[in-house]
Amino acid sequence: MPYACSTLASTSVEDIAAVNPGTKWFQVYVWRDRALVKEMLGRAKAAGFGAILLTVDVPVGGNRERDGANDFTIPPKVTWRTATQALAAPGYLWDLMTTPEIRPANFVHMKIDGGLIGFINTQFDRTVTWDDARWLREAWDGKLAIKGIVTPEDAQRCVAIGADAVWVSNHGGRQLDTAPASIDTLPGIVDAVAGNAEIVLDGGVRRGSDIVKALALGANAVALGRAYLYGLGAGGERGVRRALEIMDSELRRTMALCGRSRLSALTRDLIFKRTLP
Ligand SMILES: Cc1cc2nc3c(=O)[nH]c(=O)nc-3n(C[C@H](O)[C@H](O)[C@H](O)COP(=O)(O)O)c2cc1C
Repeated sequence: MPYACSTLASTSVEDIAAVNPGTKWFQVYVWRDRALVKEMLGRAKAAGFGAILLTVDVPVGGNRERDGANDFTIPPKVTWRTATQALAAPGYLWDLMTTPEIRPANFVHMKIDGGLIGFINTQFDRTVTWDDARWLREAWDGKLAIKGIVTPEDAQRCVAIGADAVWVSNHGGRQLDTAPASIDTLPGIVDAVAGNAEIVLDGGVRRGSDIVKALALGANAVALGRAYLYGLGAGGERGVRRALEIMDSELRRTMALCGRSRLSALTRDLIFKRTLP
């Protein structure tokens, strides 16, 4: 499985490359500071990352109300509430105290005030347009996917500027609360792209049967966000392995129960969409 590393990851591209000789992709944003983007692209390339994913759905951070309610910040901040929560979970507290500080590891050379969302809001370019995607296409000679696409028109634009993949995503619903579900936008995008680029879908893929649905509707691949993170939270590396095993066995079982023995045989006729009376 390819691993996609966030720009804001808590481990640097170099440290990831040191332990992962497999297929690696690097996610980028368009920053105000284009020199910083170029520097990151150079580092990712040198570390063996073969593709970049340009995320286009974060002109500003989403309004994550629960983060505020839970006093959630990166790096974590000690408040009465977080301290009492941590005391109730000694294993978590021990882990927090004995492992490196959680912070955007690719930017340790930069000063980050105001937490991660503050960093996003000051560094991300809100005026980003398709010209910036074209600029990135020219600046990067490896594979390029554009992530955060929810309309057929935008998918066609991705193809027009030479993207290798259209990444259908609503950011896991974390950006615009009322955005449509990725799976509902998929068929129109598949038709619009007409085989001129690969299509990856993410958002809400929690079971192998969800993978079957996305592939049947025309995606070439799905990506997992929270599904593997839940495994990570519950059981560390073993938990991630287990989450992936569950996905794999459910995918195979669902295919068998649908009477399809190859991924290429997952076709639209498998999907029944309920229509409202
Ligand atoms: C904790 C968390 C952090 C995320 N950080 C990023 C990020 O830095 N860049 C990005 O493009 N997407 C980010 N995403 C969105 C994921 O890439 C992906 O689009 C989404 O999680 C898919 O939905 P799912 O979690 O339902 O699988 C993040 C998602 C989560 C849950």
